[in-house]
Amino acid sequence: MSRRLDQLLANLGYCSRREARAWIEAGRVDVAGRVADDPGQKSDPAVVRVDGEPLDHPAGLLLAMNKPLGRVCSHDGREGPSVYDLLPERWRRRNPQVTTIGRLDKDTSGLLLLTDRSELVHRLTSPKHKVEKVYRATLDADLPAGLAELFAAGTLKLKGEDDPCAPAVLRVLGPREAELTLTEGRYHQVRRMFASQGCEVLTLQRVRFGSLGLDGLAPGQWRELPPETFG
Ligand code: URA
Repeated sequence: MSRRLDQLLANLGYCSRREARAWIEAGRVDVAGRVADDPGQKSDPAVVRVDGEPLDHPAGLLLAMNKPLGRVCSHDGREGPSVYDLLPERWRRRNPQVTTIGRLDKDTSGLLLLTDRSELVHRLTSPKHKVEKVYRATLDADLPAGLAELFAAGTLKLKGEDDPCAPAVLRVLGPREAELTLTEGRYHQVRRMFASQGCEVLTLQRVRFGSLGLDGLAPGQWRELPPETFG
């Protein structure tokens, strides 16, 4: 879709609109090989260059990150170190903003997706679409008997909520270790599901989101995903 040049550069995080006008005046921007002179020129982002370089992901960003412990999924700097601080500065200035697809707690690590495509956020976080998220948890007590059946039944009500949790799959890995597959993402859901049965979660890591795994990503690292990853 064609957009004004100054708006395009500002929305992709290059500079302010005022600076974009100065860049254009200085001859730093070209469109399909011709030096641009009008900030209002409607242009196809695919053929715009700045200082001879194609634009940075003009059609949107989709990233997989291995979220490290101790970082929050918030744009509010008052909440502490954020996952967004791990991204390049230019991406942090984009509009629409790059956001996480669902959140992980400060004390949860693992696979976190980020994008500036709001339709993807809605699709992948809506319980209607039943996208599977897999969490690995260690617990402070032995798993009670019958827990897998209880979680699978779709009848468990969390404290203060009327709607029971959707059926979830528990895979026992050891007396105090399990994998839980959810298709929804309520506030602190994994911790609250185990807590409802007398187990405190000591460590929590998300190991899968849909068909995506961590695939060797180290904590704090991210990689770009092909735009068509989720269709
Ligand atoms: N459930 C939790 O309790 N915490 C998370 O970060 C994700 C799911």
